[in-house]
Amino acid sequence: MSKTTIPLIDARQRPVALTAEARAAIQAIDLNGPILDQLSRPLRDLRISVTDRCNFRCSYCMPKSVFTRDYAYLPQSDLLSFEEITTIAQASTRLGVRKIRITGGEPLLRKNLDILIGQLSALRTLDGQPLDLTLTTNASLLAKKAQALKDAGLTRLTVSLDALDDNIFRAMNDMDFPVADVLEGIDTALSVGFSDIKVNMVVKRGTNQDQIVPMAAHFRGTGVALRFIEYMDVGASNGWRMDEVLPSADVLAMLQAHWPMQALPAKSKGETAKRYGYLDGNGNLDPSLGEVGLISSVTEAFCHECNRARLSTDGRLFACLFATQGTEIKHLLRSAEPADATFVAQYLAHTWQQRQDQYSALRQAGVIPAGNARERIEMSYIGG
Ligand code: GTP
Ligand code: 5AD
Ligand code: SF4
Ligand code: SF4
Repeated sequence: MSKTTIPLIDARQRPVALTAEARAAIQAIDLNGPILDQLSRPLRDLRISVTDRCNFRCSYCMPKSVFTRDYAYLPQSDLLSFEEITTIAQASTRLGVRKIRITGGEPLLRKNLDILIGQLSALRTLDGQPLDLTLTTNASLLAKKAQALKDAGLTRLTVSLDALDDNIFRAMNDMDFPVADVLEGIDTALSVGFSDIKVNMVVKRGTNQDQIVPMAAHFRGTGVALRFIEYMDVGASNGWRMDEVLPSADVLAMLQAHWPMQALPAKSKGETAKRYGYLDGNGNLDPSLGEVGLISSVTEAFCHECNRARLSTDGRLFACLFATQGTEIKHLLRSAEPADATFVAQYLAHTWQQRQDQYSALRQAGVIPAGNARERIEMSYIGG
């Protein structure tokens, strides 16, 4: 039987040999100055996908109809090695990266991931601080791996969980995976000392909106921050429709009908979530009750402060979740004469300086039509 492919894989950009002139221009980039993109945004957050595989088939991300048994995943030889990932991550810190998120697919499917975490945890920011080193997981393997991740130096964790109701959750992951195992993964992570855990819930109108209040009730006061994410038109295959997006404003109204809440100030520039804290009986903020976040990339785009880049499993840098092409980085490290660390950093800087992406803002303004696009890269390939 022939392998299933989707167009985006064929469209992935091949490396282009540099002219002497281009090489000289890249080598002239001063890494001591600020490295900004075309919209004056710095690079602060690097998301690294370590596998394009997942053991779930969430319909908004890896629908079964496309990601079949015969789907052509990347061959092992195309995957960046841990050393290559660490080299690129280290180069990114020279541009000002402070946060690294390990993603997938499902990153815990990658063998010996704790070794990579150990390598990345040794990196430092420009001002000599440890990185904010985090990971997004569906938690199916978390109970087994939490201790090793903690020991390796992972600083925090984000778990994807779309429902508490077992039937709804099993249907949404489309692999009949029970919710109890995800909750056990979260409990194990808490018990091994992860204190900063977030839970991400993608909200689809008509699918799991009835789970918004139960999810909030479950995590309120536990120290776990729950974030509600508007369903996005990423990729080519999730069959996105605007009428399945439940705007964050509606989510907030549903929450406020149960609990008084107050907006919290942003902790840093470029945050994806607007945060809200729970109030006590006297109308004062009660930090012990925790907070929720609303991530509204459809109704309230946050592109103007977007400081994120994504490194795909096979070593391409994507400047936007909605990109159709990435810039090949891996070839720099695999050529007969591998680039030195400074050139890799300058190459990343050069790539970042050309960046103009602001897909969600343009969609919201009506400049680009909403909806999937055939040649757009899948989120499971570049990470969330
Ligand atoms: P924290 O540092 O833990 O707050 O993480 P974060 O909010 O940067 O990252 P997380 O990976 O938890 O992001 C949550 C969700 O927000 C993702 O799964 C996406 O659905 C969405 N998201 C994150 N980054 C972007 C982005 O750059 N653009 C868009 N459109 N959506 C994003
Ligand atoms: N819309 C919004 N978020 C998505 N994710 C994946 N696909 C989508 C989508 N279509 C995010 C979710 C999930 C993470 C792995 O990726 O937050 O938890
Ligand atoms: Fe897997 Fe996460 Fe995508 Fe679901 S959202 S299919 S768990 S990578
Ligand atoms: Fe950044 Fe692109 Fe998301 Fe806008 S749509 S916030 S530019 S990743």
